[in-house]
Amino acid sequence: MSINRQPVLRFVDVTKGYSLGGAEFKAVKPTNLAVFSGDYISIKGPSGSGKSTLIHLMGLLDTPTTGKIYLEGQDVSGLSETKLAKIRNRKIGFVFQQFNLLSRTTAWENVALPLVYAGIPSASRKILSLKALAAVGLAEKYGNNPNQLSGGQQQRVAIARAIVTDPMIILADEPTGNLDTFSGRAIMDLFDKFNRQGKIIILVTHEESVAKHASRKITIVDGVVRETNK
Ligand SMILES: Nc1ncnc2c1ncn2[C@@H]1O[C@H](COP(=O)(O)OP(=O)(O)OP(=O)(O)O)[C@@H](O)[C@H]1O
Ligand SMILES: [Mg+2]
Repeated sequence: MSINRQPVLRFVDVTKGYSLGGAEFKAVKPTNLAVFSGDYISIKGPSGSGKSTLIHLMGLLDTPTTGKIYLEGQDVSGLSETKLAKIRNRKIGFVFQQFNLLSRTTAWENVALPLVYAGIPSASRKILSLKALAAVGLAEKYGNNPNQLSGGQQQRVAIARAIVTDPMIILADEPTGNLDTFSGRAIMDLFDKFNRQGKIIILVTHEESVAKHASRKITIVDGVVRETNK
């Protein structure tokens, strides 16, 4: 049990708006939330409700229009893209529905990319990448390019890339959306394992079978964020 219940990530009156022909469209309406160490959170909602916008804000891939975002107590809402990129590189791993791997690059070199940005020397990069691939059960495929891997395997490479820097938060936007049921289950087993190992997992999904893995449940409808926990 943790005595320290300081939120790792905190939103205070966060909104995200897009300007459309002079008017502003609010994709995320005023949102307050706190994410704690060990959390496993699912985000559900209809298409266009703001799920991707919300998880991009949580992952510091986007900045709020109004309100504040704190990561480990630090106000990160006004930081430059360069500073945000550095923080993301060390503390956050992101997994996308479309895998987003470099196609002419081997599995291990895809996994190593965040380590290149972090300035880790090349010998250590290979060791850490192979370790991350082993953690997703793909050690033997380290030399394959993405087109020599199944969809489920490509997503596991993407997960290895997300964990290779040992981030405290892993975010995933519909990580099983392009996969069959069987491969999707293997992906969820990995998220469950990393959560048990202490990582915060936050994922967007349409599927109740995926959402039920989470211990906290958030719904978003027309930009209004609610914690439902059912
Ligand atoms: N760059 C942008 N400019 C203008 N509007 C945007 C932009 N990005 C998203 N939106 C709008 O914000 C709303 C929320 O989009 P978002 O991508 O977050 O939805 P979503 O819940 O992830 O949908 P889906 O389930 O289809 O992925 C949508 O109405 C969308 O059209
Ligand atoms: Mg989306």
